[in-house]
Formats: sequence, structure tokens, C-alpha cells
Amino acid sequence: MNPARGSLLGIEHLEAAEILRLLKFARRMNPDKPRPLLKGKRVMLLFYESSTRTRSSFEIAAKSMGAHTVLIQSFGSSIEKGESLLDTGYTVRAVGADIIVIRHPNAGAPYVMAQHIDVPVINAGDGLHEHPSQALLDAYTILRNKNTFKGLQVAIVGDIFHSRVARSACHLLSKFGVKIILCGPPELVPDIATTLAPGIRVTRHIDDALRGTDVIMLLRVQSERLSGLKLDLLEYITRYQMNPARLKMAKKDAIVMHPGPIIRGLELTSEIADGAQARILEEVRNGVPTRMAILARAMGKMR
Ligand code: NCD
Repeated sequence: MNPARGSLLGIEHLEAAEILRLLKFARRMNPDKPRPLLKGKRVMLLFYESSTRTRSSFEIAAKSMGAHTVLIQSFGSSIEKGESLLDTGYTVRAVGADIIVIRHPNAGAPYVMAQHIDVPVINAGDGLHEHPSQALLDAYTILRNKNTFKGLQVAIVGDIFHSRVARSACHLLSKFGVKIILCGPPELVPDIATTLAPGIRVTRHIDDALRGTDVIMLLRVQSERLSGLKLDLLEYITRYQMNPARLKMAKKDAIVMHPGPIIRGLELTSEIADGAQARILEEVRNGVPTRMAILARAMGKMR
């Protein structure tokens, strides 16, 4: 079965025009001025991994458009008893799901779901693969601050190898000709990352990444994912942590982004996290109108 119309499984195969249409529609969405575009619809939030921002903003987005939401987490559901992904999918469909939002530790899980269930499936993060709603809200945030993608340089710093956020961001930004510089040690940013999308460069030097940069996107350095890697966190901090002195190397009006969760003292200092150039909480806020647009598109209401 082909995925239902309105599914959002990844950014890689989404056309630039469709991305712009979504972002434009998101600008019209405001959770404080509810619009009943999803009145009476049931949005199932199927979370096989922990989540704070993604889950809460999908929930608020759905509710502000008049939908009902049901949260199913692996803990406390039949998933814990060993039920398969598809059987859980058939079950939530049988109880009346109109949209399934799914986060899963395995890459491709949302695709499998979309091939068997006849309602739109939205990928809320699958393994190390993609996190399309995050890339869209990041693009929304960039456009709100910079007005255009034209001529922009974006530096992505941190654990890119383990980051689905980075993968989706690279796919999205490269469709608009943005210059992308990935920065970190080889354990976190392998050279092969340049093949991900056109227009990507890898550097090991933070000053090289920051020079002339408009947007700095920091990624979590995820200690639980680093076992087996010969990475010294103190060395990471010395070479890559974003601090005020480093931020000065970027353009004067550069903004600092981070998908969260942030780890103060590791990827960035508190001065940066709470500083004037940070857009980290704005990203979280922008997650709501962006996800309203994603859900409206899922129901064919993006008009
Ligand atoms: C990220 C994720 O889960 O991929 N967070 C998010 O959704 N905003 C990034 C991370 O956990 O490092």
C-alpha cells in the first residue's frame, strides 16, 4: 500500500515547493486563535521513545485545531507486552485513528506503518534516520529571523552522526541552496557526511565553521550514545563548546539554535543558552504552528 496522502515520513523526498507551502501555511497558524480544522478528528500519538518538545507540541497543535489526542507510550501499553508495531497500528486504526504520529527507535518504522495503515502517518523521529517536523520548525525559525534562505550559511556543530535532526535539516536546507558546514570530531562527524546532500562541507575546526555563518545549529552530544567511541568530553568542550568568545567569530547577527534537550556546560555555556542570540525557546514555540500546519496538511485542510 502507498502511504496515505498527507503523510510526512521524511524531508528527503519532499519537494521544495511543498516545503514552502507548509511553512507559509504555518505562518497563518496560531494556537491562541484556535481554528477548528481538525474538529472531531482523532490524533494518535504513538511514542516508543521519550520526548518532551515534540510530543507536547503535537498535542497542543492537534487540540488547538479541535482534534482529540490519545497518547500511547511503550511504557504502560501493550507495546510493553511485546505487541508488534503493526499490530499496535491496526489496533489504533480500529479504535478510530484519523492520523498517527509516531516516534520509534528504529529507522523506517513510520514507513512500515504507512505501508499497512490507511491513514496519514507522521514521522516524529525514527532512529538515526529523519525528524521531519523538527527540520520544518527549524526552517520556519530561520525564515522568521533571516527572511530568506538565499545566501545563508548554516554551521551544524555536535553529534551529527547520531542525529536525525541533522539529517533532516541537511536535506531541507540543501534544497534551498544553503551553504552547510558540519563541524565536530571525526567520531561525531564522519567525512562521508558530505554525501548526505549537495552543498555540504565538513570541518574539524570551530573557527572555520563559524566564520561568516548566519545560523549556528548546535546538537546534543549524547553521552549515552558515545560508549564505544573514543571521545573525550573534556576535549570536546575545549575544541567545540559554544561560548561567547567563539560566537563572536560568526556574523554579528548570527542566531544560535538547538533542537533540545540542551546540556549546559557541554554543547554550550549558559551565557549562550540564555543570551540575546539564542533562539532555542523560540524554536520550541515555533514547533506548535509548524505542527498545526503538518496536521492540517495530513487531513487535506492546508488551503
Ligand atoms: C531530538 C530528537 O529526539 O531527535 N530532540 C527533539 O526532538 N527536539 C534531539 C535529541 O534528542 O538529541
